[in-house]
Amino acid sequence: MQIGRPSITARGAAAFRAAHQELEGGRVFYDPLALRVLAADADDADDPVLEAAFHPGREDVRLSVAARARFAEDAVAAAVTRGVRQAVALGAGLDTFGCRNPYEAEGLRVFEVDHPATQEWKRGRLAAAEIPVPPSLTFAPVDFERQSLADGLTAAGFDLARPAFFCWLGVVPYLTHTAVLDTLGFIAALPDGSGVVFDYGEPPDALPPEQRAVHEARAAWAAEAGEPFLSFFTPEELADELRRLGFSAREDIRYRDLTARYESGHRMAQGNADLGAHVIHAWTQG
Ligand SMILES: C[S@@+](CC[C@H](N)C(=O)[O-])C[C@H]1O[C@@H](n2cnc3c(N)ncnc32)[C@H](O)[C@@H]1O
Repeated sequence: MQIGRPSITARGAAAFRAAHQELEGGRVFYDPLALRVLAADADDADDPVLEAAFHPGREDVRLSVAARARFAEDAVAAAVTRGVRQAVALGAGLDTFGCRNPYEAEGLRVFEVDHPATQEWKRGRLAAAEIPVPPSLTFAPVDFERQSLADGLTAAGFDLARPAFFCWLGVVPYLTHTAVLDTLGFIAALPDGSGVVFDYGEPPDALPPEQRAVHEARAAWAAEAGEPFLSFFTPEELADELRRLGFSAREDIRYRDLTARYESGHRMAQGNADLGAHVIHAWTQG
């Protein structure tokens, strides 16, 4: 993150969700606010972020970004069914779940944690788009590398004595190993029934050469945006860490298999490899 500047990659992820609504009708992940939250930028024809997201050849990326959001919100639904009433969007960017909260009547509170600069920008976007912030949504500005997540959340009214579900999409690669493992340790130490969905990338040296070149181009773009990739994990290493931290169950899926879960028979087009990206759902149970 560049000091004092909102996340550029947050805008990129939001642009892919918005483009999915427009170009694929939101068939994998329906988000009626996705275009509105982005809208003030969306008419800029020369914007490379929008150009990438709306490009006809990027359907697989749009579907993957949509599928990971769907996977996360399905996991929130399952957590609510087992009695969880606190949800946290970690590194929320322009994610709109907190504004749509389908479980408000059941008493689900949503906390949005993000880097202070990104959060301030997001709140401005919500106001500009006239998207109301429901009473169930609370903002908690926290820099994961410099501030305690527990302090930031408790200051916002989060109850450490009750279970909680965390959505942490598109953030882990930008954090150090220490920040990632500290955060997972915090979640695992919450009361049983707590859980998290997050995504991660395998180390690029394990990729075949052509995928490695694509990965390096993306890594260069992210670094130029001031958000370099800092963390990679092998699935085995992460499984060991999650067990060690106290997560008792997990489901780990590669991006290439994720979209097919929501679009039967979907296959990534040749040349659109997932570059070793995974999404994982881990939780604790008594
Ligand atoms: C690629 S965006 C993902 C946003 C959102 N989760 C999504 O999927 O659209 C990365 C997010 O991580 C946040 N982030 C990166 N480094 C951070 C840090 N050190 N502390 C807090 N948030 C951070 C950024 O502000 C941004 O919102």
